[in-house]
Amino acid sequence: FGGGGGDGSTEITAGTAPGFPPFEMKQDGELVGFDIDLLEAVIDETDYTLAGWEEYEFKSLIPALTNENIDVVAAGMTINDERDQTIDFTDPYYSSNQAIVVREDGDFAPSSLSDLAGRPIGAQKGTTGETTVQDELISPGNLDESNYNSYGNYVLAVEDLQNGNIDAVVIDEPVAQTFAAQRPVTIAFTYETGENFGFGVRDGDDEFTQALNDGLSTVRDGSTYQDLTNKWFGQ
Ligand code: ARG
Repeated sequence: FGGGGGDGSTEITAGTAPGFPPFEMKQDGELVGFDIDLLEAVIDETDYTLAGWEEYEFKSLIPALTNENIDVVAAGMTINDERDQTIDFTDPYYSSNQAIVVREDGDFAPSSLSDLAGRPIGAQKGTTGETTVQDELISPGNLDESNYNSYGNYVLAVEDLQNGNIDAVVIDEPVAQTFAAQRPVTIAFTYETGENFGFGVRDGDDEFTQALNDGLSTVRDGSTYQDLTNKWFGQ
């Protein structure tokens, strides 16, 4: 952990990967989103102070955490066994499935993963969308590796979809919904993964993790969590 806050509390630095609306994105140069507001509200309930946010590509967040460049990850990060071997997670704060996003023009309207065979598709590097492509399409031999495009950022993947360079993007459903509301793309179908997002913390930072879990449950019990859901997901 970094230094002490002015009031004697411990200062922590948070890391995220913008380009994943509405969880984290840049708006007029400002980092905003559900994850940003939620983690800040949770930290407010603890004895820790947030020194600031650092931005990384998604695949670099776990190394940044283990190298102690950051102390917590808030990036719509799915809790899974593979990551759990390197880092720890707080309790879950959001659930998601994967969605397959296509252009709105209707030329290509897949209804299952096997319909993606032979098509150029994309996902973000190091994500569970990429794992879905790998495990469900490439490994079983339904998609040639050369058809898969790995992007540093989901915004770039969706732009390539709009440009016609790829025919589908595999991405977390709430983010797919946001892109579909803002761009000429649409959700063709969803693929159930039942993943849960948690804040990533360093293995062994048990006191900090416990403080975040307590903060999260306070924020959930009050109106803050619902208010933030309304603000960012409009429901
Ligand atoms: N939920 C997915 C995962 O954990 C995607 C997260 C991408 N997050 C981001 N901020 N780009 O792999």
